[in-house]
Amino acid sequence: MSNLGLGRGSGVDYTKGMVLGVLGSGSGSNMQAILDAIDAGTLDARIALVLSDNPEAYILERAKNRGIATGVIDCGGFRTKFPEEIQAITAARLQEAGVELVCLAGFLRLVKQPLLAAFPSRILNIHPALLPAFPGLESWKQALDAGVTESGCTVHFVDDGMDTGPIILQERVPVLAGDTPESLHARIQMAEHRLYPAAIRKVAAELD
Ligand code: GAR
Repeated sequence: MSNLGLGRGSGVDYTKGMVLGVLGSGSGSNMQAILDAIDAGTLDARIALVLSDNPEAYILERAKNRGIATGVIDCGGFRTKFPEEIQAITAARLQEAGVELVCLAGFLRLVKQPLLAAFPSRILNIHPALLPAFPGLESWKQALDAGVTESGCTVHFVDDGMDTGPIILQERVPVLAGDTPESLHARIQMAEHRLYPAAIRKVAAELD
């Protein structure tokens, strides 16, 4: 029996490292990188639940193929809005699954209260730029348009701003002559896949 009063049959296993919940809107390659690190034994964690605001998102397929519980966040037709009552439902689903740390992995809606309040300093986001540079969408395009010679990626705690929370880790990525938005994003994603597991490890160690 765990100290949270949940024993066998509760569906929640607190004995295998940090319990993660993942929110994503797209392909889920960052979630895959987290799973790969868990499989490789370099990250002591387990993904208990994957939620997406896009029922067609490949991240849900990846999770189902691994036997991970999934769910759809129904934002009622709003393209970018994440209504407060839906955030409350999302928080409850994560809590019911025993999630200790929430990882946004390509989740394209702004998290606000009450989800933030349900997981204080326990929601992480990965962003494809060296924050505070290039917040928002398609940061790799913003970097190319700005003509910088270096970009990268950032894992940070989520606060109620857009990509503004305290930075946990960053990795630099060069912008090469002839880069297209696609080639730069692909190089940044390779760095992201190293960075996210490392950042979760760092946060988990500090929470221990
Ligand atoms: C990642 O590059 C992530 O940094 C970015 O979406 C992609 C998701 O890829 N997130 C943002 O731009 C958030 N502002 P994935 O679904 O393959 O992990």
